[in-house]
Amino acid sequence: MLFNSPAPRNPIDNETVVGHPHVRIDGPLKVSGQARYAYEYNDEIPNAAYGFMLGAGIATGSIRSIDTKAAERAPGVLLVLTYKNAPKQGDDGAPQLQGTDIKHYDQAIAFVVAETFEQARAAVGMIKVEYSKSRGTFDLGAVKDSGEVTRYAADTHMGDFQKAFSAAAASVDVTYTTPDQSHSMMEPHASIAKWDGDKLTVYTSHQIIHSAQANIADTFGIPQDNVRVVSAYVGGGFGSKLVVYSDPILAAMAARQLGRPVKVALTRPQIYNHTTHRAATIQHLRLGAGADGRLTAVGHQVWCGNQAGHGPENAAAQTKLLYPGDNRWIETRLSKLDLPIGAAMRAPGEAAGLLALECAMDELAEKLDIDPVELRIRNDIQHDPEAGPSRPFSTRKLVQCMQTGAERFGWSKRSPKPGQVRDGEWLVGMGVAAAIRNNPVRPSGARATVDRDGILTIETQQTDIGTGSYTILAMIGAEMLGLPVEAVRVKLGDSDFPEAAGSGGSFGANSSSTGVYYTCSALRDEIVRRSGLNTSDVSFSDGSVISQGHSIRLADIAGDAGISVEEKAEFGDLQKKFAQAAFGAHFAEVGVDIATGEIRVRRMLSVCAAGRIINPVTARSQCLGGMTMGIGAALMEECVVDKRYGYFVNHDLAEYQVPVHADIPDLDVVFLDEVDDQSSPIRAKGLGELGICGVGAAVANAVYNACGVRVRDYPLTMDKII
Ligand code: MOS
Repeated sequence: MLFNSPAPRNPIDNETVVGHPHVRIDGPLKVSGQARYAYEYNDEIPNAAYGFMLGAGIATGSIRSIDTKAAERAPGVLLVLTYKNAPKQGDDGAPQLQGTDIKHYDQAIAFVVAETFEQARAAVGMIKVEYSKSRGTFDLGAVKDSGEVTRYAADTHMGDFQKAFSAAAASVDVTYTTPDQSHSMMEPHASIAKWDGDKLTVYTSHQIIHSAQANIADTFGIPQDNVRVVSAYVGGGFGSKLVVYSDPILAAMAARQLGRPVKVALTRPQIYNHTTHRAATIQHLRLGAGADGRLTAVGHQVWCGNQAGHGPENAAAQTKLLYPGDNRWIETRLSKLDLPIGAAMRAPGEAAGLLALECAMDELAEKLDIDPVELRIRNDIQHDPEAGPSRPFSTRKLVQCMQTGAERFGWSKRSPKPGQVRDGEWLVGMGVAAAIRNNPVRPSGARATVDRDGILTIETQQTDIGTGSYTILAMIGAEMLGLPVEAVRVKLGDSDFPEAAGSGGSFGANSSSTGVYYTCSALRDEIVRRSGLNTSDVSFSDGSVISQGHSIRLADIAGDAGISVEEKAEFGDLQKKFAQAAFGAHFAEVGVDIATGEIRVRRMLSVCAAGRIINPVTARSQCLGGMTMGIGAALMEECVVDKRYGYFVNHDLAEYQVPVHADIPDLDVVFLDEVDDQSSPIRAKGLGELGICGVGAAVANAVYNACGVRVRDYPLTMDKII
């Protein structure tokens, strides 16, 4: 079904189930260890051999020699793969071991398979490699000024920026930097591969089933239908699992050669340099406003780097949409860097961009002597600032988010002047930032079956990466069929099910819910058709379909054969006609230790307007996770680049700092009442990434308000405050 005009009133609007808090239906499986992750299919695949990947010890150059003799003779070793004996693969997928070239540190150069994990790991240590190193480029700051720059993305040059900027009553001209960051999800990348003739099954940890399936098929040059991908449970992704890395490919390659299943998990240290990361940025902000605070000049230039053929960190994206201003100069420049590959990490673009833009707005507010909340309110705009009034926002409640947040957080108690509030050894301050995150949608299908017990089963490739997909899809099914959530079974993350959006870009919940909605609509139609009831006035409740006083149990209509339908949601051009985004306002209170410069976040509030909230429990958790990650981005997260050798030095969770429980205070989340008729029949919008957008800037602004130190290089570590 095509969604291409404002959503009509439909059963979801009844909000019998949808919109009410529901704990995760997969929770008991998870806490009892029964939810199986990619590496854990020991019952289905009892005889898998263990693989261990060897990564390159240099960033750029080639393998001069690789000696695997000792490894091959080591106890338990079944196979050692290198470029010398790996089969030829296609360029399109994720080919591994295809030659001697090294493009980045920890690129896979060998794969050892043994009877046990320990044997495989020990044998990897016996491989002797000699390299020819070549010069690499690892320093973004240096290539920004001297390197070859690849122009990327549509620049915005509107009006006369220079003139407006010079004439502005108040302006800021500042440069912010954001570091490389690592997703640091809990579950490592892991795969088990098994061949049955020419059919390959891969249990792997991935966010989008059909894209993993296509990628693996392309790598081996086999039809997509010959590859089954299963990611039933995924222990966090944050974008890291949108990409196919070496693990499923090496496992499949070895499994084919050995005629035996092979499993492999990347080690935590391998993840940092072998997989992708959020790339560092340098951001030059020039904002100019009239004395009334209304922006007249909006300038945002972004520099970033990546390997050839890979895209930029699109950190100016939100600047094109968030604020008005007739004179605009927005550019993104990408240089070639030989660091590991940069790719999507939670809110790619906005998360890094808002760290800079929303602090620059704070700096502008101070220059204008206008309250930072008030400055955002004065700069509201209800249409796409570049496309003009012909492209309105479908809904935009940023002003209401700001007002509600200010009220609830006690913003009026904030001292406009920094360094004024003292609590013992702590200087205390408050900060605010706006949040915006685009609301993309993707086609998404499902199969729905009602059986003779009146149980509804929903099957879809949609994944649940910890976000709550299992629960919300059960809720949509329950609402549509008039069932309790307990009467709905949800099966996810298997390429045998209908293709679905998957989890990425904040499109998962809205898109997959729409797919399940259309599927359940079709199932309702089929049930009514078979019921023989008058179709003009039917409703579904208490496990029955009811018409004009007649009620028939779904179980009876389904009979022994059951009733099963498949449908797919597709989306038309409403996204073109309307700018669609979710909005939020983040408020932070921090303490800065007067002696050490230690920063503690004392409390935070996020107010979000993201369309209909399908499940307040899982939606709130998404925001809490985003806020936690935003605090990490502000205060601690950074992949430290060794600019001599071109790798991330702090490649484990001891050295790559993320917030722990002790770092996180009382966090509060408020959702504004909102429905978006242009977004989907569910009237929901993406939320998963909104939660992180702007959070770090609110923290940094609070730090400035507390102690009067403006740090423009993230993260705000103690050494930069003192
Ligand atoms: Mo997201 S960074 O699209 O998982």
